[in-house]
Amino acid sequence: MYNYRHLTQKISLFFDFVINFAMQKKHDLIVVLDFGAQYSMLIARRVRECNVYCEMLPYDTPVSELKKMGVSGIILSGGPSSVYEKESPQVEKALWESGLPILGICYGLQLMAKDLGGSVKQGKKKEYGKATLLIDDKTNIFAGLGDQIQCWMSHGDTVVSLPEGFKQLAHTANTNFAAVGNQEKKLFGVQFHPEVVHTPQGIEIIKNFVYIVCSGKPTWTTKNFIEESIKDIKATVGKEKILCALSGGVDSTTVAALIHKAVGDQLTCMFIDQGFMRKNEAKKIEELFTKKFKIKFAHIDAAKKFFEKLKGVSEPERKRRIIGENFIRTFEEEAAKLGKMPFLAQGTLYPDVIESAVKTPAKGYHSKAAARIKTHHNVGGLPEDMQFQLVEPLRKLFKDEVRKLGRELGVPDEIISRQPFPGPGLAIRIIGEVTPKRVRILQEVDDIIVSEIKKAGFYRKLWQSFGVLLPIRTVGVMGDKRTYLNTVALRCVTSSDAMTADWARLPYDLLEQISNRIVNESPAVNRVVYDISSKPPSTIEWE
Ligand code: XMP
Repeated sequence: MYNYRHLTQKISLFFDFVINFAMQKKHDLIVVLDFGAQYSMLIARRVRECNVYCEMLPYDTPVSELKKMGVSGIILSGGPSSVYEKESPQVEKALWESGLPILGICYGLQLMAKDLGGSVKQGKKKEYGKATLLIDDKTNIFAGLGDQIQCWMSHGDTVVSLPEGFKQLAHTANTNFAAVGNQEKKLFGVQFHPEVVHTPQGIEIIKNFVYIVCSGKPTWTTKNFIEESIKDIKATVGKEKILCALSGGVDSTTVAALIHKAVGDQLTCMFIDQGFMRKNEAKKIEELFTKKFKIKFAHIDAAKKFFEKLKGVSEPERKRRIIGENFIRTFEEEAAKLGKMPFLAQGTLYPDVIESAVKTPAKGYHSKAAARIKTHHNVGGLPEDMQFQLVEPLRKLFKDEVRKLGRELGVPDEIISRQPFPGPGLAIRIIGEVTPKRVRILQEVDDIIVSEIKKAGFYRKLWQSFGVLLPIRTVGVMGDKRTYLNTVALRCVTSSDAMTADWARLPYDLLEQISNRIVNESPAVNRVVYDISSKPPSTIEWE
């Protein structure tokens, strides 16, 4: 049983942001009340795909607050609990009489049925997987759909009798009340999951709820977002200067492009080159910013300093800490040289906002007590005690929305669809001491890997694909001569969120091509091995 009180503790923090938003209401707002389902965030993303703005809030958000925010409709997510369990999460009863349109999904449906006088049976067996949904009423949430659709079921409990005023809208072979509704009160519920891809027409159901039941208007578009953000950034920054630290990834590049559009030369971008970027990457970033975007660009070549600090260091955590600390120190020193810079732009995204407001083990987020596996370092994690006012224009956006925004702002595809690259860069892919020579070896190897993976059409299918330079040399034979050279491990994984990952089953021919090219083209490598470990128990990066 999970402790749902966790969810409420940080509620006020989150409200500030939401109320702020509501006060300047420009769009219809749908709220997903989160009961801890795996798919809650996905529901919010689907609503936004309908171009209607959507927020995720804890399940016990007071109705008065929801009303103050002027919400147009509510979606109740699924969750791991059973509605009759003692500590199961509940909503304020006033929600049902609020007049707000509501769509309950799975647990949300069961709660609605139980609270309004129906009943729910605790199932001993779970119904899990694809099912055929037979539609009995093709109005409201099923408007425009045919007689039957494929849907995805994942539930143990089932609604067995309906509250007064409700009727069955769809059923499956196993479940009578697969979808139910009270049209007059605009209360609807589905037992299946319309948000997942295994319900291929689920987006139509969400659209129907949003457009027909809630009368939502599709005004949440990238174009509008850009216009509104520009106004907000201008109002916040005024005539002052703003600094943006670049990593070369999609978030910081998109933030920079957006802020530049708003305040032009008041923006300076700083790129600290630690010396561990991939081949030509630093040069490409500089070119993009200075030539294409024409943004004031401070390229800080700090490689020498970083290599010095890492001399003789091979323990992964020490390496990470040294890189993180030096990054912050360099940033502070260099920022001070730029004169008065009251604002700092950051690429914080919506999932970071939710995660810091709602941390619950039920959602699989890292709990505070979790053991530290690796000390992460990234450009987002700048000094906490610096006297900057943060500007975070992406804090409402999901990653896919950032990519769309970046494209619209002219960020090249190479950056938009770049695989994740860790803050400490190649330094944590060189096992043992990091030296300029070893970085150069890995840069060449990495370049071969990326180009072959791209050529074979696997780059976007893989979460990451990279090389790791090992601290061992092995014997080989080349042109009748003995060699004693480095070994490279090839690491290619599939994943959806990096929390878990699997090694990619790449075609042998592709592995052969990569291996051949590496040993033929890199004079320092005579052996390539393929990493076939999943996460857990391994991690994606080797350090
Ligand atoms: P692991 O190795 O923990 O990595 O399975 C999970 C994901 O995180 C990335 N990673 C980092 N990203 N700063 C980052 O911004 C870091 O210090 C860092 N370390 C690991 C890694 O590439 C993978 O996608």
